[in-house]
Amino acid sequence: MNLYLLFKSLHLVAVISWMAGLLYLPRIFVYHSEATHASQKDIFKIMERKLYNYIMMPAMLLSWLFGFLLIHNLGFIVFLELWMQIKIILVLILTYYHFLLGAYLNDFAVDNNYKSSKFFRIINEVPTLLLIIVVFIVIYKPLL
Ligand code: HEM
Repeated sequence: MNLYLLFKSLHLVAVISWMAGLLYLPRIFVYHSEATHASQKDIFKIMERKLYNYIMMPAMLLSWLFGFLLIHNLGFIVFLELWMQIKIILVLILTYYHFLLGAYLNDFAVDNNYKSSKFFRIINEVPTLLLIIVVFIVIYKPLL
């Protein structure tokens, strides 16, 4: 069995799940920050916690794990290539963004959010932009 192709498939499955959460969680924050009733807020809190803990966190860890295994297979010399250098920087930004969302989630959990729905609408564009750039970089890597 070709382990490299197995790791690459699992890497992509994990990345797709992670990205789904990174795109959806700030969208829930938009509605949560506009909610007025305690009962509505309670539902958003459950949705946010389950999405973050059970989907996004494992998916992020597995994206890194399988990404690391791919790098291990290719050899660490791959870090000398420009596409890899750009990709790692962008993926580190995505990881920082992931934990930033975790901090906002903790604020919402204790009804301590002071950010506007407009703020969450704006930051919702960050992962979209990074996703597009990362995909183009990995696909166009032979030309870089
Ligand atoms: C979490 C840290 C990550 C690491 C360490 C990592 C590393 C890697 C490596 C080493 C490959 C193999 C490239 C090849 O076979 O030539 C790969 C493939 C790929 N990665 Fe990642 N990656 C990470 C996250 C991501 C993210 C966040 C995305 C998308 C937003 C992504 C999208 C892809 C795609 C589409 C491929 C397939 C490229 C191809 O087969 O040509 N990766 N990744």
